[in-house]
Amino acid sequence: MKAIAINGSARTGGNTEALLEKSLAVLADGGIEGEMVRLSEKSVKPCTACGSCFKTKDNRCAVQDDAFQQIYDAMRDADIILLGSPVYFGSATANLTALMDRAGYVGRANGNVFSRKLGGPVTVARRAGQNFTLAQIMFWFMIMDMVVPGSSYWNVGFGRAIGDIKEDTEALETVTHFAENLVWLAKKIGE
Ligand SMILES: Cc1cc2nc3c(=O)[nH]c(=O)nc-3n(C[C@H](O)[C@H](O)[C@H](O)COP(=O)(O)O)c2cc1C
Repeated sequence: MKAIAINGSARTGGNTEALLEKSLAVLADGGIEGEMVRLSEKSVKPCTACGSCFKTKDNRCAVQDDAFQQIYDAMRDADIILLGSPVYFGSATANLTALMDRAGYVGRANGNVFSRKLGGPVTVARRAGQNFTLAQIMFWFMIMDMVVPGSSYWNVGFGRAIGDIKEDTEALETVTHFAENLVWLAKKIGE
């Protein structure tokens, strides 16, 4: 079993990343290795709706950039996909949305490659928009035919400056239990 956590924040090492790191640490305790992908360090261009992926059906996107194909291949390779985003004006970041659009389209063009993988969303905001953004990312998981476990609360956190999230103990507990549920599910599936 392998996990990938994708942080849609423009900031490296921020609050979203801290919640994703916590999730990866719990997965590692449960014997599931994982890697963090930071979109702050990549440049994923948006989907151009060229439809090329539905013609070639080769798991490739015709839009050229320095990041998409590598991330998409890693997502395909993973059994668990975590998507995290800070709230930017009430929604997920443009970087994460670009990735979801392209990975979603290429994945669906190739027989729903994410079908029955496990995963889930994580969001952080200073004040408001976490639930909307969580739902926005959930729509992607649902249409990808993926399986998302629950937790003791929604996977949302509060924080503005980098590190603020460490004060949000409920958010840390929520993502901890979420990741424990992923480990539980992964073991059940393997039985
Ligand atoms: C462009 C931009 C838009 C933002 N919009 C919102 C917002 O709509 N609601 C909110 O509560 N916080 C908003 N924030 C604050 C971030 O969500 C908050 O600082 C969060 O902790 C950033 O997460 P990160 O550390 O993972 O980057 C915004 C920040 C930026 C840079």
